[in-house]
Amino acid sequence: MVVSIASDHAGYDLRMAVKKHLEEMGIEVIDGGAVSGTESFSYVEAGKKIAEDVSSGKADRGVAICGTGIGISMVCNKYKGIRCALCHNEYTARMCRQHNDANVIAFGGRVIGSAVALAMIDAFFAEEFAGGRHAVRVGDISSLEEVNFK
Ligand code: RB5
Repeated sequence: MVVSIASDHAGYDLRMAVKKHLEEMGIEVIDGGAVSGTESFSYVEAGKKIAEDVSSGKADRGVAICGTGIGISMVCNKYKGIRCALCHNEYTARMCRQHNDANVIAFGGRVIGSAVALAMIDAFFAEEFAGGRHAVRVGDISSLEEVNFK
């Protein structure tokens, strides 16, 4: 499993904690985005990096962090095949895998603490997609991409 993780400056500190946790889980990490928590870095550039890594197959999944998680999740969801879920707790991190087959998780470095973030990471990487009726819904999302993404 290869994971692309990136953040802007507002997500930098949390990204460092999440990156360490992923590596301890034996996951290969592609790290991108801000080089510190003080030097301004656009969440658009960070989101692009993750979405391109996942879309191209360079990474299997992505972890996206900005101040709120909102901007970076919007960016990731502009890419075909990316299902980025903005999550706030362990339940939403689990359900975005089970029901939505999310391939990128986003959260806010100014919103949640590291303990919650790491619990979300554990849930996101442990939970399987349930398939069945949920596969129909996810297929419907892909059909929308065919119509709306030129
Ligand atoms: C940066 O100040 C902030 O706007 C950004 O991290 C994010 O919250 C945007 O959605």
